[in-house]
Amino acid sequence: MDDAGADGRHAGGASGDEEAIDPPEAFRESAAVADPDVYDSFAADWPDAWRAAADLLEWDRYPETVLDDDDPPFYEWFPDGRLNAAANCLDRHLADRRNQLAIRWFGKRGERRSYTYADLHREVNAAAAGLRELGVGEGDVVTIYLPMIPELPVAMLACARIGAPHNVVFAGLSAEALATRIDAADSAYLITCDGYYRREDAFNQKSRADNARIRADADLEATVVVDRLGDALETPLAADEHDYGSLVDAHEGETVEPVARDATDLLFVMYTSGTTGRPKGVEHATGGYLAHVAWTTRNVLDVRPDDTYWCAADIGWITGHSYGVYGPLATGTTTVLYEGSPDYPDRDRVWDLIERNAVSVFYTSPTAIRSFMKWGAEYPAAHDLSSIRLLGTVGESITPKAWRWYREHVGGGDAPVVDTWWQTETGAIALATLPGVTPMKPGKVGPPLPGIDARVVDRDGDPVEPGETGYLAIASPWPGMLRGLREGEERYRREYWVEGEDGWRYRTGDGASVDEDGYVTILGRVDDVINVRAHRFNTAELESVIVAVDGVTEAAVVGDDDGGVVAYVTTRGDVDPDPDLREAIAAEVAGVVAEVARPDRIVFTPELPKTRSGKIMRRLLEDIARGEEFGDVSALRNPEVVGEIESTVRRE
Ligand code: WTA
Repeated sequence: MDDAGADGRHAGGASGDEEAIDPPEAFRESAAVADPDVYDSFAADWPDAWRAAADLLEWDRYPETVLDDDDPPFYEWFPDGRLNAAANCLDRHLADRRNQLAIRWFGKRGERRSYTYADLHREVNAAAAGLRELGVGEGDVVTIYLPMIPELPVAMLACARIGAPHNVVFAGLSAEALATRIDAADSAYLITCDGYYRREDAFNQKSRADNARIRADADLEATVVVDRLGDALETPLAADEHDYGSLVDAHEGETVEPVARDATDLLFVMYTSGTTGRPKGVEHATGGYLAHVAWTTRNVLDVRPDDTYWCAADIGWITGHSYGVYGPLATGTTTVLYEGSPDYPDRDRVWDLIERNAVSVFYTSPTAIRSFMKWGAEYPAAHDLSSIRLLGTVGESITPKAWRWYREHVGGGDAPVVDTWWQTETGAIALATLPGVTPMKPGKVGPPLPGIDARVVDRDGDPVEPGETGYLAIASPWPGMLRGLREGEERYRREYWVEGEDGWRYRTGDGASVDEDGYVTILGRVDDVINVRAHRFNTAELESVIVAVDGVTEAAVVGDDDGGVVAYVTTRGDVDPDPDLREAIAAEVAGVVAEVARPDRIVFTPELPKTRSGKIMRRLLEDIARGEEFGDVSALRNPEVVGEIESTVRRE
């Protein structure tokens, strides 16, 4: 990691003291955590205080040990405990709330399906029995490539029930991305579907999955295909392909005993972008992950069983895993699952769903909030949103303006807005205010949660002074942390950990600053990762696809202020950088990587700005894309291109 970016260039507007807003009195009275001592008591009793998280779960064998840190950075949480994640999300709720809704699903075509806890338990059991019949056993990795339909959480929980780690691949990723993830995860089983609706059109997901099977080195043992579209799309099944509906029907009514897993056993793998073009497989252990997710769902998002809760993130990414599936179901609440887009059939769709379901806790991303702002306050105003009692945000920094808009127009002016910082690797929320205790400062994520030793440090690991910028690091382990990488111990250590004088330090890859009150402002990634519309990509991953387009010679990709992608591209001398080439580049990125990664702007330039040693000045390009001031460029090898690029960007 280098220090490019940790110089506070995005801090601009957020500096200067934002007023601190106290937790609303009415909220505080019934909040899960109302005692500010929680910070001190976690600090005084660390790591044992985290037992409070373990106590939110039901264990087959209750852990005697909280943390084994004998072999850093390979930490083990609750190592002698045994539990099953699916039993924690389903079975243990049956006594008290078997008839309470677990999932309310809304499909893209206006379809609706609801599952009580008893229904969900039944279907997960049948699916688990079906997977067993196909040969899936404990420890076998199952890849799941499904859109936001109920079968996605059902499949995840069915895997968890039989101790088979899942490897969910976001349904919008390409065949190539799916093939890479099947191979890298060593997965012999795939669950996918015939297709899904993209606005009006039926999109053929099965053919993309077929394509991935051809590209992958692995020979799959079995593929299960969910019939999402019925007659709208005929997808003939091969001999080793099984119709999900028939499989589940054949096992309807069967009970599969949940497999007790060691707390340190793998619950799932989630591929994410890191410092190289190849995605890395983040591994999450069963016990620590589930405990941390349950604790934060309860105490940060303040979710209770009697809430109707909606996390709008796609389950194909970590936010959907932790706060769309495991957190709410472990808590025993009712959760909304929405397949469609926020502006279809109209721009009030989200508010309509909140009103209709009386959603009380809503969790989304700043990208979404920016769209809502752009569409206008008249859309939320047309709905009764009085059920909302807490709002959450995650994925990137939220500006104070967007924060206030969200609170005003969605939160009725008085709901707490919790800005939560975390990552695929942290598994669960690590920095955020506690809504009943900690004052909020719009634009700042707040202090680390109790029991999380996050710090803003300089290169040597020493804490920076308030107001100065540095790197966000975590100086002690935490329960939801990744247990390792699929790529092995060496890669895990190298990618994340530094050994300092006072122990091991986890590097988050984010630049940050901290104020006098210990509130952290996140300044963005300092490595080669960009957050695109709350999805995470590596710059090299996107650039390699662009340079593969005929006629392109070089490319540099940066993020802009709206969470979008800007690609700077140079072409061969004899190639005309015309609209066709522009379209070819955009289509290639969308096809090979994902539709969400499609560049918003493509800027053709005769050269990319480079240092004398030949390194592309991505930071400078990012400043230009964001319309920000940038410093002296005279030390570049080709300073003259900077003005040219800037005027091209301005013209567009
Ligand atoms: C960014 C998503 C500012 C950050 C859960 C982090 C944030 C990356 C925030 C992880 C926030 C997440 N404020 N930035 N509240 N939350 N980020 O792995 O750069 O998809 O490193 O996990 O998102 O993205 P990931």
